[in-house]
Amino acid sequence: MRVLVRGARQLVTLRGPAPRRGRQLRELGIIEDGAVLVQDARIHSVGPSRRMENIKEARHAEVFDATGQVVLPGFVDSHTHFLFPSPRLNDFEHRIAGASLPPSGGGIHSTVLALRQTSPKGLEMRAERWLRRFAAGGTTTVEGKSGYGLNQAAELKSLRVMQQLDGRPLEVVRTFLGAHVPPPEPGLRPDRYLRQVIDEMLPQVAKLRLAEFCDAWCDDGAFTLDQTREVLEAARRLGLGLKLHAEQHTRTGAARLGVQLGAVSVGHLEQATADDILALGSSHTIATLLPGCAFYTGGPYPPARRLIEAGAPVALATDFNPGTSPTLNMQMILSLACTQMRMTPAEAIAAATINGAYALRRHGRIGSLEVGKYADLAVFNLADHREIPYYFGVNHCCLVMKRGEIIFPQKSDSRK
Ligand code: NIG
Ligand code: FE
Repeated sequence: MRVLVRGARQLVTLRGPAPRRGRQLRELGIIEDGAVLVQDARIHSVGPSRRMENIKEARHAEVFDATGQVVLPGFVDSHTHFLFPSPRLNDFEHRIAGASLPPSGGGIHSTVLALRQTSPKGLEMRAERWLRRFAAGGTTTVEGKSGYGLNQAAELKSLRVMQQLDGRPLEVVRTFLGAHVPPPEPGLRPDRYLRQVIDEMLPQVAKLRLAEFCDAWCDDGAFTLDQTREVLEAARRLGLGLKLHAEQHTRTGAARLGVQLGAVSVGHLEQATADDILALGSSHTIATLLPGCAFYTGGPYPPARRLIEAGAPVALATDFNPGTSPTLNMQMILSLACTQMRMTPAEAIAAATINGAYALRRHGRIGSLEVGKYADLAVFNLADHREIPYYFGVNHCCLVMKRGEIIFPQKSDSRK
């Protein structure tokens, strides 16, 4: 099957190196009046429409006319907690009333207790609807973390549900976050729980190939630096890639631990110091910025400009979760990145595509529109890529392709 997407006023290819840092973040590789020829799941060729229409492989291709529109690689949302059973609306109202801590019966533990009681089918049906919403906003790959189970049965249940959801219609990359926070059981000390994580859960996760990455949250109220190191070293011995939640509420040294351990990414960084920024600037560890959290909680934004100026490879992601960032719209994240963190539209787009792909070790397959990569792309009903963050809170996406198949709009949508 061949499809020619042609006539794009701006075909934003993102061709070039990964990860992007410094000035490279602004190099989008735009082709004006550009086209992409898709063969089966992959990109066969990319170039100006006039040349592409004349190549012999394009002759019998189905044509999608993107005249006047912007075409981007699909967004790679490399940090989310999308598998959760219900929103936390009482917490939301408490926060609005000025409380800094959730009410009793709220917070992460309320999500944990609810998730344990929800059947795999119930979780799956809910999450599948979310994945459709991600796709409708231009996201084609999403990472999903466990961490709302906090016992072996519920952690493995979460990872299995996400395994089931892979390809429906997004690629779902699974991360084990057993070390999210200490569990709600009053008698179970954090150290005892971590023994279960290290001695029982991690070996199962690795043996059953339920996750590709292991994450841990190092913070007040979560785990200490030593505990975080122990979990991540155990995960590394089992062959998992490493991620961290670092420097979110308190500065702990977790970002530098991530660099030392060769983590693929460290997320948050709101409290990162000058030394942390320097360490990230000379590493391959992606600094994943999650501006939805500051927007929703009223907390500080991470120091995006200083990270970029230090040479750190930054990615942007939603952190979609019920407690600190209830959005799955990457276009909104780009708007926040530009208006609140002073990233340029080009930097934000590179951070949300090719650098997100690098944070999932998939930069050889996705994140840019280059020959041989998967045909994962999003078409926006706009004439200039800068309009995506500019018109904030509006979904401009009109067509999304995942591995050569149109996943948005759905066939059923067009019949309505
Ligand atoms: O990324 N930092 C830890 N975890 C989430 C919040 C999870 C929740 O509140 O449910 C985060 O912000
Ligand atoms: Fe998170």
